[in-house]
Amino acid sequence: MSQFGFDSATYLDLMRAEVPAYGRLQEAVADATEGVHVTSVLDLGTGTGETLAAVLGRHGGAVAVGIDKNEAMLDAARERLGALPVEFVVAQLSDPLPAGPFDLVVSALAVHHLEGSDKAALFARVAEALRPGGRFVLGDVVIPRNPADAVTPLVGGHDRPSTLADQLGWLAEAGFAAAAVWAERDLVVVRADRPD
Ligand SMILES: C[S@@+](CC[C@H](N)C(=O)[O-])C[C@H]1O[C@@H](n2cnc3c(N)ncnc32)[C@H](O)[C@@H]1O
Repeated sequence: MSQFGFDSATYLDLMRAEVPAYGRLQEAVADATEGVHVTSVLDLGTGTGETLAAVLGRHGGAVAVGIDKNEAMLDAARERLGALPVEFVVAQLSDPLPAGPFDLVVSALAVHHLEGSDKAALFARVAEALRPGGRFVLGDVVIPRNPADAVTPLVGGHDRPSTLADQLGWLAEAGFAAAAVWAERDLVVVRADRPD
C-alpha cells in the first residue's frame, strides 16, 4: 500500500508483493461470511474485485453492489467478475451508502484509509444498511499490540490504521456484536453481527 491511489493494472502484483498474507486475508473474509443466508452483498472499497470474487464464491445466486472511489479499479473489477450480478458505484465511503437492506456488508483493506471518527461513523451507517440479523465482515490492517507485528507497508496521510480495540468499540457503539475471528501479524478479520 505504498502508493497514493492504486493502479488497476499493477494492483494485484503490488498487493501480493507487499502483503504476503493478502490471499489468506481474502479467504478469511469469505470464511467469516459463512452461516448467514446471503442474497445481497455490499462491498466497501471493491478495488479490482478480489474480495467480492471470494465472497460471492461462497454465496451462489447473491447479488452485490461494489463501491469504490476509483473508477479504473471498478473497471478492472467489472472485467474480473465477468457475468456475476454486481452493480458498481463510484463513490466515497463517506457518501450515503446504497439503499439496503443488505444481508452482508464486507470490506477488505479499505476502511483503514479513513480517520478514526470516520470509521466510527461508517460503522453506524453499515449497521443501518444491514437487515436485522445481517453481518458486517471487516478485513483490514490495524495498529498491532506488538509493534514488531507492524509489517504491512503504510504511507502516512494515506493509510490510517486504528487499533483492533478501538474498532471493536466503535462497532459495539453501532450496535454490533463483534469479535476478531482471524489475525496474522497486523491484519485482522472482524465478524460483526447486527442483532435480530
Ligand atoms: C487496497 S484496495 C482493496 C481492494 C479490495 N477490497 C481488495 O482487498 O483487494 C483499497 C480500495 O479502496 C478504495 N478506497 C480507499 N479509500 C476510499 C474511500 N474513502 N472511498 C471509496 N473507496 C476508497 C481504493 O480506491 C481501493 O480501490
